[in-house]
Amino acid sequence: MRILSTGPEDLALAAKAIRDGLLVAIPTETVYGLGANAWDTRALARVFAAKDRPSFDPLIIHVARPEAAEEVAELDALYVRAFMERFWPGPLTLVLPKKDCVPDLATSGLATVAVRCPAHPVAREIIRLAGVPVAAPSANPFGRLSPTKAAHVAAFLGDRVDYIVDGGSCAVGVESTVLDLSERPPLVLRPGGISLELLRELAPGVELFDRVSSSPRAPGQLPSHYAPRRPLRVAGAGRLHEAQPSGRAAALCFGEEARRRCEERGVFARVVDLSPGRDPIEAAAALFDRLHSLDLGDWDELWAERLPEEGLGRAVNDRLNKAAAKGSS
Ligand code: TXA
Ligand code: MG
Repeated sequence: MRILSTGPEDLALAAKAIRDGLLVAIPTETVYGLGANAWDTRALARVFAAKDRPSFDPLIIHVARPEAAEEVAELDALYVRAFMERFWPGPLTLVLPKKDCVPDLATSGLATVAVRCPAHPVAREIIRLAGVPVAAPSANPFGRLSPTKAAHVAAFLGDRVDYIVDGGSCAVGVESTVLDLSERPPLVLRPGGISLELLRELAPGVELFDRVSSSPRAPGQLPSHYAPRRPLRVAGAGRLHEAQPSGRAAALCFGEEARRRCEERGVFARVVDLSPGRDPIEAAAALFDRLHSLDLGDWDELWAERLPEEGLGRAVNDRLNKAAAKGSS
């Protein structure tokens, strides 16, 4: 594995490597992706192997320009164009009827394909230079914390990838929102970088997928995911100071008031604040990096408090709930 810079020669090298069937971790505005040539089934198979990812969990195909989505998906419906125009490039993935040319390995045999035009200039330049759509799951081992820095990818995937393009920290910090437009109503399968509120400004009928009451429309809707190695436990919003950790524990809090209350009660050996000013966007950007850092420490447990269930708070809470489902099992 070699780390590349974002200089023009390194980007050309990264793009050629993808075209030639190698695996290249690339920065996007959400998290680092493990990029592979979407037309190359051998490369796709290596992606699943590198991540230890079950083959029933399909990949997102990334394109450099919104119009290029038509290479892989049917964009006929008017409302599809409306979502593309409003939110692309950006952290929104659209699930659409797939074109026959997309390998079944990328879509796990589904009739739909997930497609996204990322906003990160480095990702877009690499995809443009590669000249092919790029399949890219998050660049982490399956079920573990997502990577928001090149160092996270290097630590957890190491020589399972050929190159890592170091574009610094990811600004959004949680994955894209996955919106299924293949059926009515439009359904958010995964909350992420574009909030439900913003989607509803464009289309008030957008619904949030509810794992408890719905039959799974998304194969990737596993209850546990994004997990640190230490057990993670989650407290309700504003209730972290009431936690009763077993053993030496560290916690992620949301805002100065929460930190002060935890410190007064002395419940945690360490408290890290995701956003002193209680900004959910700042908290989302910091979430995985802080979890990665805490996970290196010698704690019996990690704790985190939920954010208010609105805006990017929903995406953060989704990641915490899934990380906790794994950590406590
Ligand atoms: O922000 C992101 O989306 C990042 C960056 C790298 O772009 N990628 C990412 O990919 O998070 P991944 O593979 O970790 O998550 C893709 C999600 C999974 O939950 C998968 O099940 C879902 O998208 N998905 C992919 N294709 C789908 C389809 N045809 N129908 C329903 N869900 C699909
Ligand atoms: Mg992932």
